Amino acid sequence: MNDMTDMNVPVKAVPTLPDAQTVTSVKHWTDRLFSFRVTRPRSLRFRSGEFVMIGLMGDNGKPLLRAYSIASPSWDEELEFYSIKVQDGPLTSKLQHIEQGDEIILRPKPVGTLVHDALLPGKRIYFFATGTGFAPFASLLRDPETYERYDEVIITHTCREVAELAYGRELVENLADDPLIGDFVGDKLKYYPTTTREESPKMGRVTEKLKSGELFEDLGVPPIDPASDRAMVCGSIGLNNDLKEILEGFGLREGANSEPAEYVVEKAFVG
Ligand code: A2P
Repeated sequence: MNDMTDMNVPVKAVPTLPDAQTVTSVKHWTDRLFSFRVTRPRSLRFRSGEFVMIGLMGDNGKPLLRAYSIASPSWDEELEFYSIKVQDGPLTSKLQHIEQGDEIILRPKPVGTLVHDALLPGKRIYFFATGTGFAPFASLLRDPETYERYDEVIITHTCREVAELAYGRELVENLADDPLIGDFVGDKLKYYPTTTREESPKMGRVTEKLKSGELFEDLGVPPIDPASDRAMVCGSIGLNNDLKEILEGFGLREGANSEPAEYVVEKAFVG
C-alpha cells in the first residue's frame, strides 16, 4: 500500500452526514430524467427490486428522504438510482444537481414487494413499467435469478416520448453482451417499448395493448394465464390500478412477501 502521509496525496473526503454515501457518477437522459450511482454501504444486502430511502439534508437541517428503487442488481459494487426531475419537487429540484463526489443520505433498510419471493414459480414473467417505474426492473433484469426462474422474461416500458425510453433501451440492449449475465439472458428476454405522446414504432398505452391482445400478437405469446404467467408492475397510481384490474381479469392474484401469488405491484416515485 502507498504511504498516505505525503501531504501532496489528495485525501478522500470523509463522509460527514449520517448514512452518507458518495456519488460516483451522474447521467442526464432528458431534461426530466437522470440516473446516478453511489458507493454501497458494505453491510447493505438487498433483493433485486427492493427500494431504500435516499435523499439530501434539507435547509432546516433535517434529512429530506424519499423511497427510491435500487436500479442496480444485488451483485453490483455500487448502487444505481433512476430519477425524475421535478422543478419544484422538494427533493428532486435539488437532487438533480448532484455531481460526482457529492454526498447523499441513504438509509440502508431495503424493503419492497417487487421481489421474486413474492411470486409463485411460473414459466414467463412480465415486468410492466411506465416512466421511472423502470428502475426496479433495471435491477431485476440484471439479476441472474430472473433468468434461472423463468423461461421467458418480457419487459414493457411505456413513456410519453421516445427519449424517455433511452435509459431502459440502453440497458436492455447491453444485456445479451454483458460478461456477467449475458449467458443467463440468452434469448429469454423480450422488450416491448411504447410511447403515448410522440411518434414511435409502437404507440399507445400498454394497458390498451393488453386489452386488445395486440401485445400478445406482437410478442408471439399466448394470452396471460395464471398457470404459467407472473407479473410485476411499477408505475403511477393510475397505471397500477388499471393493470391490477386487467391482470385480475386474466385470473392472476396479487402476491406479497408473506403470501406469494401471481402478480405484485408497487408505485414508482414521482416527486
Ligand atoms: P399518457 O401519455 O397516455 O398519459 P407519466 O409520466 O404521466 O407517469 O406517464 C408515463 C407513461 O405512462 C405515459 O406514456 C402515460 O401515458 C402512461 N400512463 C399513465 N397513466 C396510465 C394508465 N392509467 N394506464 C396506462 N398507461 C398510463
